[in-house]
Amino acid sequence: MKILGIETSCDETAAAIVKDGRQVLSSQIFSQTFKHQKWGGVIPEFASRMHLEIIHEIIHQALEKANLNFQQIDAIAVTQGPGLMGSLMVGLNVAKLLAWIYRKTLIPVNHLYGHVCANFLGTQLEPPFICLLASGGHTQLIHLQNYCDMKILGSSLDDAAGEAFDKVARLMQLKYPGGPELDALAQTVTNKEASCEIESISIVNGQYKFPIAQTQNYDFSFSGLKTSVLRLKEKLGEEIFMQERSKIAKAFQECIAYSLLNKTLKASRELGLSKIVLAGGVAANSSIRALFQENFENIFLPSLEFCGDNAAMIASAAYFCPQPGDYSLEAFARFQNS
Ligand code: KG4
Ligand code: ZN
Repeated sequence: MKILGIETSCDETAAAIVKDGRQVLSSQIFSQTFKHQKWGGVIPEFASRMHLEIIHEIIHQALEKANLNFQQIDAIAVTQGPGLMGSLMVGLNVAKLLAWIYRKTLIPVNHLYGHVCANFLGTQLEPPFICLLASGGHTQLIHLQNYCDMKILGSSLDDAAGEAFDKVARLMQLKYPGGPELDALAQTVTNKEASCEIESISIVNGQYKFPIAQTQNYDFSFSGLKTSVLRLKEKLGEEIFMQERSKIAKAFQECIAYSLLNKTLKASRELGLSKIVLAGGVAANSSIRALFQENFENIFLPSLEFCGDNAAMIASAAYFCPQPGDYSLEAFARFQNS
């Protein structure tokens, strides 16, 4: 079964064709980042207009790369939400139109479930497993009991991990999106110059330590950590903060990684499940990948190509959990647990 996936939830315009949920025949991604960078974040109005301008070309490229035409596609999958309303509407309406013209099944996909399914691409991974999903807007610990049965164990109570990365990167005057930039900076610090602790910020022998929030159950909180970096900046002053920013970036990144690890370890222990999967843009982070690999034997990491937003994961999700929709489908901006 060959599914055309379409993804336009934020600032990537993407189309892909995936066979039987795992074999990527093509995956085209047009990133708008270069356009939004000068404003330090995504401008929703621009994002939807850019999707509108490029989407047909990207779909065409995906078909061409896979050497297929619309007649040879079995279904059209599209991100329904969550995301930016205007951006989602472009993808959804184009998908509806193509499904109507070519008489194809239309399958709406939850973007977050799509991120989980990025791990099926090119692998033989099967549920049940625990998935730690960390993206720009969401941090969730998920129990995927079966292909189509996603239970949310816990979520971020405030900033998502990606959001915290982006905000702290901004304090460090790094360009948008800050996560990868901050990660690159942190990787220049090789020795143990950074660490985390439970209670407070401190600077001991040139080491920076930040607090890890203690939350209930499987929930996360990163806004305190982000504020600690801001307080440190105020304490050190702009100049010293900038001189020291690699070490600070490392300490901050390690704290996020430990916080994600702690809750995943807890879930793994309490649910008696050893198979652990990472997903979402933040799953590209070097400290997080390394720490999870050290702590879990049965760990699956999505390839870097499929951590961030892409349409192959949407096509895969539609294969593994096909819930066809009709032309009355509407986009949703906020997360819906269904
Ligand atoms: O999943 P994603 O591509 O889009 C959303 O659905 O939000 O995630 C984007 C987020 C951004 O916050 C970005 O800064 C972060 O993922 N990110 C990273 C890294 N690469 C992307 N954060 C930390 N380290 C990275 N290497
Ligand atoms: Zn995403």
